[in-house]
Amino acid sequence: MGKPWFPVFLHHMSAPKRYLVTSALPYANGLKHIGHLAGAYIPADIYVRYLRAQKREVVFVCGSDEHGTAIPIQAKKEGSTPQATIDKYHQALKEDFENLSVSFDVYHRTSESLHHETASTFFTHLLEKGALITQESEQYYDTVSKTFLADRYIKGTCPHCKSDQAYGDQCETCGRTLSPDELINPVSTLSGATLQKKKTMHWYLPLNQHEDFLRNWILGEHAKDWRPTVVGQCKSWIEGGLQPRAVTRDLDWGVKLPDSIPGGAGKVLYVWFDAPIGYISATKQWALDHGKDWAPFWQDKETKLVHFIGKDNIVFHCIIFPVMLKLHGYILPEQVPANEFLNLEGDKMSTSRNWKLDMRDYINDFVKAANGGGQCVDMLRYYLTQIAPETKDSEFTWKGYQDAVNSELVAIFGNFVNRTWVLNHKLCNGKVPHLHPALFDENEHSLIKDIQAATAHIGTLIDQYKFKDALFEVMNLARKGNQYMQKKEPWVLAKHIDTDPSAQKQIDNCLHLCLQLTANLTILFNPFLPNTSLTLLKMMKVVDRMLNWENAGSLKLLNVGYPLCAPQLLFRKIEDTEVAQQIEKLQ
Ligand code: 2FM
Ligand code: ZN
Repeated sequence: MGKPWFPVFLHHMSAPKRYLVTSALPYANGLKHIGHLAGAYIPADIYVRYLRAQKREVVFVCGSDEHGTAIPIQAKKEGSTPQATIDKYHQALKEDFENLSVSFDVYHRTSESLHHETASTFFTHLLEKGALITQESEQYYDTVSKTFLADRYIKGTCPHCKSDQAYGDQCETCGRTLSPDELINPVSTLSGATLQKKKTMHWYLPLNQHEDFLRNWILGEHAKDWRPTVVGQCKSWIEGGLQPRAVTRDLDWGVKLPDSIPGGAGKVLYVWFDAPIGYISATKQWALDHGKDWAPFWQDKETKLVHFIGKDNIVFHCIIFPVMLKLHGYILPEQVPANEFLNLEGDKMSTSRNWKLDMRDYINDFVKAANGGGQCVDMLRYYLTQIAPETKDSEFTWKGYQDAVNSELVAIFGNFVNRTWVLNHKLCNGKVPHLHPALFDENEHSLIKDIQAATAHIGTLIDQYKFKDALFEVMNLARKGNQYMQKKEPWVLAKHIDTDPSAQKQIDNCLHLCLQLTANLTILFNPFLPNTSLTLLKMMKVVDRMLNWENAGSLKLLNVGYPLCAPQLLFRKIEDTEVAQQIEKLQ
């Protein structure tokens, strides 16, 4: 059944001149799991592929986030250096995204000198404009290691649950957020030393001075077209009272402050100040690689900037970074489609408890297996989009994955295409048969109407970032194809060819329309299942120009008499044993 739909907001009556789409920069401190993939990467990739199919100018940027205390801490854990750690994980992350068909135009890294220059110039620019303030505060100092300690480097007793394993930013036993001052008996994780307080000066972004702007921009302008979960989180930040936020740290791993800044020695930019600037440096890298100009992407109001993120990144992308952008005179994001969290088999995904499915594990167990390949990439993309946590947390289960593959991809879409091809080879010599509109009955009329209506509907849903609903509608169209074929039963008609003079024409009509529908599904599924669409192009022997979104809805995509390739199975089944193995592996 089609869900009701309404084009609710027509924010942009005319299309933007260009798009800049970003996915959250993952920390290069480990492999990423399918929750990350479902939250910030697959939805962005769907959106970008859809824009590309419309021939829009779009650049899709991402890269590794290589600063912050997470990196040296991981390096220490692995008995390695920060540099070796980021090199290893940067490479691994880049490969994993490629292996899952996430089609970034550039995958950059924040350790590149281009990024360091960009971030430190950005900081200096705000400083020179008088947009930053300085404040002195007392911070914990490790007298043995002779260094100030970031929250993560401080351990102590949790004031809530009394675990003695709590960190200065969070207690992992009870999950509460903490500040170092709340810890009982804080000690340094570097030296084990008890800590002293010492005065230090830092630069702050005075968010409190930008409250009116944020209120108008988020709670006014975007109250209706941003997701309620996003607006809700921003609202509670704003109403909670905005405070100046420190944008520098006493650390040696990160983007160093320029020597020219008095008091800047020994300080680096706070990772959340430099990371989003990573989107800008990635754009610059892309421009360098392609002989293009990066500036309009960040300066021209006709650029539409869209940030895909998980919900834990909302404040940084909706409050802090926009204030930085505004102060610098850059454009603001038009949309920040943040996703909620994905749980796994009844529990929260967690790296520390090792309750997760890494992208890498799926790639090794499915994509790289003998019966794997692009179909397995698309199978995961399909299920993750179907369960995308767009409005609330959702859950990945292996049984759910198996059902999505076996009962939908195999039984509906794959089956429809396979029946169409096999019957076409059997009953129409493998060539696109003629169409005889004079013989149409209500089944043909309604199928044609469905194909045309679905196209507009699916486009509207993608424009509204409702990828899950859009995918449902595409599969629904495949379902209608199956129902149509079931009603026409060309295999029964085939038995009456000798006695019924219209039988062959009826068969031709049915298979002609099923082929045109397959061509339409190739276009409509392409943003979601790009590998499957490539397989279909080969089966139809057509070039990828057919994938232009404007071709969707047409019933003239394949010419009469055109010979098609032999059928190929689009998806393999997922066996019970595979489900059992994966569940066992998790335990
Ligand atoms: O939460 C994270 O994993 C961060 N590394 C995301 C950074 S997004 C952007 F600002 F770079
Ligand atoms: Zn606790």
